[in-house]
Amino acid sequence: MRHQVRKVVFPVAGLGTRFLPATKSIPKEILTLVDRPLIQYAIDEARAAGIEQFIFVTSRGKSSLEDYFDDAPHLAAELASGGKTDLLEILEATYMKSGSLAYVRQNRALGLGHAVWCARHLIGSEPFAVLLPDDVIAAEKPCLRQMVEAYGDVGGNMLAMMEVAPERTSSYGVLDVAAEPKRLRPVRGMVEKPPAGEAPSNMAIIGRYILTPSVLEAIGRAAPGSGGEIQLTDAIASEIGRRPVNGFAFEGRRFDCGSKAGFVQATIAFALQRPDLREAVLEIIAETAATRRA
Ligand code: UTP
Repeated sequence: MRHQVRKVVFPVAGLGTRFLPATKSIPKEILTLVDRPLIQYAIDEARAAGIEQFIFVTSRGKSSLEDYFDDAPHLAAELASGGKTDLLEILEATYMKSGSLAYVRQNRALGLGHAVWCARHLIGSEPFAVLLPDDVIAAEKPCLRQMVEAYGDVGGNMLAMMEVAPERTSSYGVLDVAAEPKRLRPVRGMVEKPPAGEAPSNMAIIGRYILTPSVLEAIGRAAPGSGGEIQLTDAIASEIGRRPVNGFAFEGRRFDCGSKAGFVQATIAFALQRPDLREAVLEIIAETAATRRA
C-alpha cells in the first residue's frame, strides 16, 4: 500500500544573503508579498495538499518565524470588540492546529540536503514533501497538490521541474529527462548547477519535492558536492535505478522570491491579482514608467 504524504519539511535555515541588510534581523521567509509573508503562502499550499504535520528546519535569528504561527488572542479580542470581522477572519486563517508544527535546528548552514537531513527523526519512515518557501508558485490547483495527486499513481520520488532558458540552466539543478510533452517524466540523471553548455536538458528543478525516507540515508552517507554543500540532488540521484524518480512539469507560474528581481515581480503580480489594489497599482506602474521615459 502506498503511504499518504502527511509531512512537509520547510528548510528555512539559509542565511538569505541576497536580501541583506533586511535579513540581518528578519528571516527571508517573513518578507511579505503585498501583505502575506512568504511562509504563509508555503503553509497554505501544503495544507491544500492534505499535509498534516509541518516541520521547519531553522537556525539562529529565525525566532520571529516561529512566533508568527502563535495564536494572537489579545489582537483577536481587540478586532472582535471593534467589529472588525474581516480582519479577524484574516488573522484566524493563519492559526495552526496545536502540535501540528515542529521546529528543528540546523546548527550550521551546510546546504539544503543537510537541512532536510536535520529533520530525519521527525520524518521517520514515511514519504514526505519538501517545500522551499522562496519558490512561490501561483496556480489554480496548488503545485504540491498537483504533485501529491500524481504521486498517488507512481510513488517513489518526485521533483517539480520547469523549462528555463538555456543560458539560465547553470543557476539550477537540471534534470536529464526526455523532451516530451508529458507532465510526469522519468529522470535518468541530474546535475547541480551545470557549467554553461553542459546541461542535460532545459528542465530545472524547482523547490517542491516528494521523497522516500531512503533519501535521508543517502544524505547521511553523502560527501559535500557542488559548492562544498551537502546537496539534496546528489542524494535523490542515488535513488535512480532503485526506486522511481520522476520530474513533474507543474501547471502554474513560478516566482523566484529568493532573488530581488523575482521578489519585485511577484509583488507586482500578486498585487494585480487583488481586486482592492489592481487599479491603483496599474496607475502607479503607468505613472512610474512614464516618469522613467521622460
Ligand atoms: P538558497 O540557496 O536560496 O540560500 O537556499 P539562502 O541562504 O536562503 O539565500 P542566499 O542565497 O544566501 O540569498 C534554498 C533554500 O534552502 C534553505 C534556505 O533557507 C532556502 O529555503 N537552506 C539552504 C537551508 O535551510 N540550509 C542551508 O544550509 C542552505
